[in-house]
Amino acid sequence: MSDRYCVIGNPVAHSKSPLIHAAFALQTGQQLVYERCLAPLDGFGATVTALVAAGCKGANVTVPFKLEAATLASALTARARAAGAVNTLHFLDGEIVGDNTDGAGLVADIVRNALCPLAGKRVLLLGAGGAARGALLPLLAEQPASLVIANRTVASAQALATAAASDGAPVSASTFEALHGRFDVIVNATAASLAGTVPPVPETVFGPGTLALDMMYGNEPTPFMAFAGAHGAVTRDGLGMLVEQAAEAFFVWRGVRPQTGAVLQQMRSAA
Ligand code: ATR
Repeated sequence: MSDRYCVIGNPVAHSKSPLIHAAFALQTGQQLVYERCLAPLDGFGATVTALVAAGCKGANVTVPFKLEAATLASALTARARAAGAVNTLHFLDGEIVGDNTDGAGLVADIVRNALCPLAGKRVLLLGAGGAARGALLPLLAEQPASLVIANRTVASAQALATAAASDGAPVSASTFEALHGRFDVIVNATAASLAGTVPPVPETVFGPGTLALDMMYGNEPTPFMAFAGAHGAVTRDGLGMLVEQAAEAFFVWRGVRPQTGAVLQQMRSAA
């Protein structure tokens, strides 16, 4: 019998994860089934309990359950604890282990797919919610020269920066408006694209040689990508990050690391 996995969300019908994991399973010869699982908004815990009882081996977690998954897990990996959010559950001998592969996926997409090493770079992280928190330590692990966190609510950026800086990392916080100078890498981890808007950053943060990545993706470039591209940046959507975080989850569950290049190309041509 094939091992069972799923992605839990609400809504979840749009999720590309089943396609990605089916492609990984085919490529690596792993026997598994990966499905979508719609959990009621007030029924995430009950859904996980039922999946465990049914012998499911693990699950990805998407909107709006990533914070609840971190509370529900009986153990957290260090990177999930740092993120305060879980996107990967591993059901192991009575334990529900919560992990977070989003940040590793982001860094893999920037460094390996976009061929943009982060070491020594000036990095700007927009946003200070769950998505930004998950990205922060994996970005810092690449040893950028500096990392600025900018957020609409600057106090949240300040809190994240203060915690990271106490470990000696070159991190500071800013409002969007007070940003100055050009950045090498800019990651939009705000939810602004969902609202069809762009964080009000000065256009001078972009320039030739800037990589501007939006964690969101869609059939069209996001408003952030359009704005960054109009001011000289190379732009990238979140599809590569999606495929890379899935590859990392696949590795957590199966101990096998899939090749992502062909799968990312397949997803782009299917989009
Ligand atoms: P996620 O898990 O996707 O990060 P979140 O934790 O709700 O979701 O965080 C959303 C982030 O997007 C926050 O940084 C939020 O800014 P605030 O902390 O000021 O709320 C940011 N955000 C949401 N809508 C935005 C908008 N229209 N413009 C700029 N930032 C926005």
